[in-house]
Amino acid sequence: MAKLIIKSGGAEGFAEWRRHFAACAPGLETIFWEAPHDPASIDYALVWDPEPGRLAAMPRLRCIFSSGAGVDGIIRDPSWPVHVPLVRMTPPGAAQRMAEYVAWAALHLIRGGRRMALNQACGRWEDFDHPIAPETRVGLMGLGVMGAAAARALLALGFPVAGWTRRSKGLPGVEEFLGDQALPAFLARTDLLVCLLPATPETRHILSAPLLSALPRGAMLVNAARGWHQKIEDILAALDEGQLSGAVLDVFEPEPLPPDHPAWSHPRLTVTPHVASLPSRAERARFVAEQIALLEAGGTPGPLFDPARGY
Ligand code: NAP
Ligand code: GLV
Repeated sequence: MAKLIIKSGGAEGFAEWRRHFAACAPGLETIFWEAPHDPASIDYALVWDPEPGRLAAMPRLRCIFSSGAGVDGIIRDPSWPVHVPLVRMTPPGAAQRMAEYVAWAALHLIRGGRRMALNQACGRWEDFDHPIAPETRVGLMGLGVMGAAAARALLALGFPVAGWTRRSKGLPGVEEFLGDQALPAFLARTDLLVCLLPATPETRHILSAPLLSALPRGAMLVNAARGWHQKIEDILAALDEGQLSGAVLDVFEPEPLPPDHPAWSHPRLTVTPHVASLPSRAERARFVAEQIALLEAGGTPGPLFDPARGY
């Protein structure tokens, strides 16, 4: 019987994972990360942030599954076994959730959702003008699994959509800007910027003052990728000063965002607690079970993290 070791969600999370795997992969033995076991007997690992060295000590490991789409918690271990395929968690519901989050954030920003929530908190009845979707040019940084789904949802709502990537994606209706040399033109035409980039050395702190000042004055910002990408103090300064008119941030460094952080109370910033796309454990267990069945039948799982590219 193949063995899957799990570190995602602690002991309580493991009990739920075990229940779901028993239903969708009855031939798989699930093992809690903290339970006594022989590392040499493990075939598969489902992990979010394993302690450095633990995966490297499993010589029989055939595949690693990240319990999220991002793999930053795994590859920060300098000894993670690079030769073992690393699958990014992308059940169909993951891209759908991200598309819904980005569509919600875009509508929340153009309709003044934060302003109305503050008004409601103090019983203030106020109407105000707002742009409509066709008047708001969205720029998506990243058109991968998440960005492509967000692009489709935004186009359906009537937003003009452009994407900034390294290679052409050929998505219908999406204007493409390729590579670093195209970034200034991409930013200059973007009223609402959405970050869905991976966390790589090239994208560290990309959402900082120089980039924000290259947007049209009063632009809006959504970051649903990683806190890694943003300099929060620069975003707060751009909101204070009017260069940004509003922002929705789902991700921070560190997480949880400390209770006394000024981001919580900024009147033009909406904070969400890293929930843009969190598929249920049942969905994720089914995804892993399908990938293991594919592997055992001699197929190639995916989407795989590419160590050469860094995402
Ligand atoms: P992905 O499939 O790997 O896509 C990454 C995209 O970024 C690709 O289009 C890639 O373009 C582009 N890109 C990478 N480096 C670039 C660079 N230096 N310049 C320009 N474009 C670059 O990633 P994903 O699955 O869509 O995930 C996107 C982000 O969302 C990740 O940070 C992930 O961790 C995060 N995420 C967050 C949540 C949440 O709940 N907040 C949930 C899921 C995922 P090329 O292919 O052309 O290189
Ligand atoms: C969540 O952030 C994920 O990477 O799936």
